[in-house]
Amino acid sequence: MTPIEREFLDRVARIPHHGLGLSVDVYQPDLFELVGALNRRGLDYGYLEIFKAAPSALEVLRRRLPGVLLSYHAEGLWVTQPDPETLSPFHAGLDEAAEQLGILDSHWLNHECAAKQMAGHAFGTYLPALFTAASADVTAANIAQAQQRLDRAFRARAGRNGHDGMGPLFLLETPPLTYVGFGDLTMAEFFRLVTDRTPCGVVLDIGHLWTVYRYTGEWRRRPLAAFLAGFLEAFPLERVVEIHMAGLALHQAVPSRARPDGEPPLWIDAHGAPIPDVLSDMLAQVLEHRGLVNLKGVALEVDTKPIPTIVEEFAQACERFGNRVARDWRERRERRDSIRASRARPARRACSTPADGRLVEQYDRYAQIVTGRAASGLPVLGGDASALPLYVEHYLPHEILEWGGAVHEMFPETCRDLDRAGIALDAFVRFWFREPRANDQAYDFFLLKITRFVEFVREVLPAASGTAVREAQALREGYQAACEQVGA
Ligand SMILES: [Fe+2]
Repeated sequence: MTPIEREFLDRVARIPHHGLGLSVDVYQPDLFELVGALNRRGLDYGYLEIFKAAPSALEVLRRRLPGVLLSYHAEGLWVTQPDPETLSPFHAGLDEAAEQLGILDSHWLNHECAAKQMAGHAFGTYLPALFTAASADVTAANIAQAQQRLDRAFRARAGRNGHDGMGPLFLLETPPLTYVGFGDLTMAEFFRLVTDRTPCGVVLDIGHLWTVYRYTGEWRRRPLAAFLAGFLEAFPLERVVEIHMAGLALHQAVPSRARPDGEPPLWIDAHGAPIPDVLSDMLAQVLEHRGLVNLKGVALEVDTKPIPTIVEEFAQACERFGNRVARDWRERRERRDSIRASRARPARRACSTPADGRLVEQYDRYAQIVTGRAASGLPVLGGDASALPLYVEHYLPHEILEWGGAVHEMFPETCRDLDRAGIALDAFVRFWFREPRANDQAYDFFLLKITRFVEFVREVLPAASGTAVREAQALREGYQAACEQVGA
């Protein structure tokens, strides 16, 4: 066994079994209404995974749900990027995460293997890591740095008395593909390289995996069950600590078209959408795998989903998977040694972020391709970029203009002024991605949208900038108040 494998096992052994739970957002839907609805239906949940929120909101939650296991879904820690500190304050973000982990008493920090900022550009939703060996090195080094900082924060908080020096475990989640992915490794190979280099855990997201099958063109080559079986053999399953399952849906901005026989739908990850049967069948196949020896929890990700649908789907999940997830995992742990021995390999520990100029250039190219400013220049996952235009032409403009706050609703008066002056809002999308920008603020897409829109108006219609500034101020104040007000 390598020292890295040993360290992972030491860390994961401290995590209690969490069971079948829900991954939620404190704001939407109302978490206390959801908990009430689950209780009325007599449904027991093993834990709640909470998305990053205002500390005051998390404190209210901790106080009102004593005795409930809570875990933490972080955001804004761009561990996949070669320059995380220059994109968004990485170290301050880790300290903030440590505080939130402490409020929740969480045993882990989960973060997507993806970023919403790269090469000086900001996006509203995740772009997966570039799946190459150099990128795996950088990701592992950043995770190692993050884990050290969390350990330090928890050691300092505990003082000298009785702390073993280990903070909550960093978990890296398999990301979704939104129509396309880039790199020359499969996602399984990439995760294997990362886990060989650092003792992190992993979250396996079933819906995200479906999008990998869909957008790497694997569906043209083999049936889903055969793809999944092959994936599970190559993936570091012994590092999987949590499994996620959410919905999939067509995107509202993408025009529908007739599909030839056998072609899967153009679904993407959608937490508010119902869970299709195909994902439940995939989950069943995953849970049967003998390599899954360190699993602690399975969560339905339900943020933005209507409460009646959550309750119904959770009831179904309890019925189909409850026993299997609650099963004593001791039997699986006993199998661990033999599996570990068969997979033993020399480990090369990542200890600092390698300065890799080529990776910086590749991420710059990545940002250019997905924003339509370059046509190619990176290896495409599975060689299939056929759905990339959907991202560039429909998904991305919708993200800037509508997603996480519709610009015309946020700035109604300014938009009327722009309209009267004959300036279309599409110009804001081009303005947004025109050049890379330095940023010293923690990532917040809504606040960024406000700032950028005021800058845009100042440039294209200076006469309306006073109106834009006034509307921006009201938005910021309302946002701040809403973030802090949860079930107080
Ligand atoms: Fe997930």
